[in-house]
Amino acid sequence: MAQSQAKLINRRAMLLSSAAAVGVAGLRLTDGAATPVLTPSPTVAPLRPAAGAVVSLEAAERTMALPCFGGKSLPLWTFDEASVFPIVRVPRGQALEVAIKNSLPRADEHITLHWHGLRIPNAQDGVAYLTQAPIMPGATGRYAFTPPETGTFFFHTHCNSVDHFGRGLVGALIVDGDEAQASDADLVLMMKDWRLDAGKSFLPFTTDEGAAKAGTAGTVRSINGVTNPVYAVPASGNIRVRLLNVDPARISEIGLEDADGAIIAVDGNGCTPIELGTWRLGPAGRLDILMRAPKAGQVAQLVDYFSAEPVVLARFLAEGPEVRHDAFTPAPLLTMPFKVADRSAAEHLDFTFSATATGSAVAATAAAGGDALAIGKLCLSKRTFWAINKQPWSSVDHSDLGPPLASLKVGRSYIFELKNVTPNAHPIHIHGHTFEIITSNLRDLPSVRADTILLLPKERIEVALVADNPGRWMFHCHILEHQETGMMGYVTVT
Ligand code: C2O
Ligand code: CU
Repeated sequence: MAQSQAKLINRRAMLLSSAAAVGVAGLRLTDGAATPVLTPSPTVAPLRPAAGAVVSLEAAERTMALPCFGGKSLPLWTFDEASVFPIVRVPRGQALEVAIKNSLPRADEHITLHWHGLRIPNAQDGVAYLTQAPIMPGATGRYAFTPPETGTFFFHTHCNSVDHFGRGLVGALIVDGDEAQASDADLVLMMKDWRLDAGKSFLPFTTDEGAAKAGTAGTVRSINGVTNPVYAVPASGNIRVRLLNVDPARISEIGLEDADGAIIAVDGNGCTPIELGTWRLGPAGRLDILMRAPKAGQVAQLVDYFSAEPVVLARFLAEGPEVRHDAFTPAPLLTMPFKVADRSAAEHLDFTFSATATGSAVAATAAAGGDALAIGKLCLSKRTFWAINKQPWSSVDHSDLGPPLASLKVGRSYIFELKNVTPNAHPIHIHGHTFEIITSNLRDLPSVRADTILLLPKERIEVALVADNPGRWMFHCHILEHQETGMMGYVTVT
């Protein structure tokens, strides 16, 4: 959630020097380098159901050779035969009906479909035990709702998510109809890394050290299943880049090289366009960027500046006649009818995100250079490493429902103070609602709406919401190993 202008000033110099020093391939493509070859993308045309049609998905194991696997085929779990990350696209106002068959190959591997970021009725929210019975292997579940707002959303299962995301079981949901000024191209980029060993087999999706610290990182980066893909875009066009961080753990600092860009939506929610310096995008966060493509034959780059060595995530090769000659002045997206919280009358609630004693011990052992064996000696009878308001969630799935973290009244405004008292970052997500960001003790955050708030280490962020959607709503960290080792809870709205 950060926008760091300082980074904007420094990053070009930094890139130039690091490229020169270590010869980072691809970072300065436009300086005499050969035109890159377009990458065939393993994602296919989106599923665009006609009004009244049912979208059929089937969660199953499918062996796929994604380009980022370097020639290997791996047993992915996907929702669709045709592509690793299916994209469902509907116009705003159209009802969506989805039939999901569970054909996963493991006994008892039950699923539900959660529609991340959508403010839909609780019964359609797709959380096993909390909002519905799980869909068991062999069974088919149904979801029907009309997305209330436009935007960039995604869907995923909500139990055993570390495994499911690790194997690729994620899809995008795009609700169209928010452009006051049509863009010239619209790209959906699913950012997800893969945990592969040197022989390109899956590594374990979780480790105790990762779960107790920043999450277990992937080893192979990808956008839509390709490492550093190249997309063709119309020269000098306004390109809408929808970036979805569907990684279980990765935090990126997103920026563009060799093109101007503006943030036009955060977590699918349109905002006053913000010049893109860099933006810190945590797991489950989405960022809609409007980019002005360069001239024909030139290449713009989507870059992650998070680590010392910037990483090019994707490239955009401008082709064809110049489609625009005007100055780049991104128009805001159409406004959606959100209720605005009444901050003066709002009730204040505190949520403290902390590590448990076990979690701190595992993290300390790991930090002291302790290996898996030393961590093993801690006798982890339960992998409970994290808590919200001292309440750890007690199971990987949702079958042990404790009391809610808070009981909210329908129609009332609330200010949540989200306090991170740990040394790790936590992307905190609420179901069925979106937050208005008010303030942080560490950074200047723009006043945008978001459903997933990236809390930096020791950060406190105040957000407001109107509890206008009755039901029981999950409230959890979206670093999936944190979620599954305790940093999960729910609130009720009645
Ligand atoms: Cu994508 Cu409960 O979340
Ligand atoms: Cu977390």
